Amino acid sequence: MSGDVLLRAIDQYPTPFYLFDEGELHRQVAHLRSLLSPQIELCYAMKANSFVLQQAARDVERIEVCSPGEAYTCFELGIPDEKIVISGVHKDVAFIGETVCAHPGIARYTVESRAQFDLLCQAAHEAGRPISILMRLTSGNQFGIAADEVVELARRCKEEPLVEFCGIQHYSGTQKTSSKRIGRELRGIDRLIARLWEECGVRVAELEYGPGLPVSYYEPAEVARAEQDELIAALDGLLADMDFDGKVALELGRGMVASCGTYATGIVDTKSNETGNYAIVDGGKHQFVYYGNAMSMRQPPCALIPERIDGTPAPWNICGSLCTVTDIMVKQLEVCEPRVGDVLCFGRAGAYCMTEGISLFLSRDLPAVVMCDTEGNLRLVRKRLESWSLNSPTIVNGQIELSE
Ligand SMILES: Cc1ncc(COP(=O)(O)O)c(C=O)c1O
Repeated sequence: MSGDVLLRAIDQYPTPFYLFDEGELHRQVAHLRSLLSPQIELCYAMKANSFVLQQAARDVERIEVCSPGEAYTCFELGIPDEKIVISGVHKDVAFIGETVCAHPGIARYTVESRAQFDLLCQAAHEAGRPISILMRLTSGNQFGIAADEVVELARRCKEEPLVEFCGIQHYSGTQKTSSKRIGRELRGIDRLIARLWEECGVRVAELEYGPGLPVSYYEPAEVARAEQDELIAALDGLLADMDFDGKVALELGRGMVASCGTYATGIVDTKSNETGNYAIVDGGKHQFVYYGNAMSMRQPPCALIPERIDGTPAPWNICGSLCTVTDIMVKQLEVCEPRVGDVLCFGRAGAYCMTEGISLFLSRDLPAVVMCDTEGNLRLVRKRLESWSLNSPTIVNGQIELSE
């Protein structure tokens, strides 16, 4: 994020806020594509950040949607149905029934269990509309189904005229740094694809694979980028080595949008005691989570604005506004004389940071969300939201509203 944009945003909007940079998002997607073979498609897992959905959707072939709420966001924003993959471990009858009827163009539905398979078949039958499915292969947890079940359900698809079996979805976790592990997963998928052909004559046309592309939060930007690039190059090679020669879509969240986000939080108090220096900020850990920094021992990318280059740097504990000793955003951050009114800007904050926190704890307001477009214009896309009313019974005229 350019310094000028940050300064303008701080000038215009009260902290805390999230700031997402559309230009950086497009650059990152273009960068990913430049490292991948041209036939590989991209699918954005919108759970990583639904505020940048519209911008991301312009750049990718597909959007992975994991809840009715995510689907309604897509529908309201006019994301084409042909880009949408309805995924997720809990798909309920009402939502699926309604979606199959009202959105016949949905690209794919994933199957996470036998019950989901039955539900999807029934919804297609009742609506009299064809649907296309991907079987989610489990990686040994509550998600997806075992290889044997994939084979069994793919065979059953042959008897379902309205249900087209298109292929396999596989996602086995985020922040995967080992290309060996990715290689093992892809070889396992190859074996399953061979089985499907040999045992039931079913051809797999596509693979939607979530590599869990890692983002390094605690390294300098160049090192973080080089590490990611190396893994993507290895991934591309491993995909090329597969026996499978159908269409591949990479399902990505963090690796696509982390770099486009900044969280800005203002210093509201400073103090020192025998245990150290403390700067209290108006945000906190409920609004902002970095993967792997639960104890705040690591130093995330963080800049103090205004920058004071001629001051004396000293270690400061940066603490949020919650009533818990665990609300430390960074321990021992080296900064020059932080003052009330200064703003701390945390980088690489575009993925999960804002939704994985316990934002309602203490009923503090939810931060505003600001978007910087490709021309550098800033726009408020979500106003700061008073959250106390979400975190209490419904109160009408000073009374709790009771209903049966
Ligand atoms: C099914 C599925 N696909 C893709 C993703 C995105 O993962 P990442 O952000 O690691 O790229 C997730 C994240 O939880 C997921 O559950």
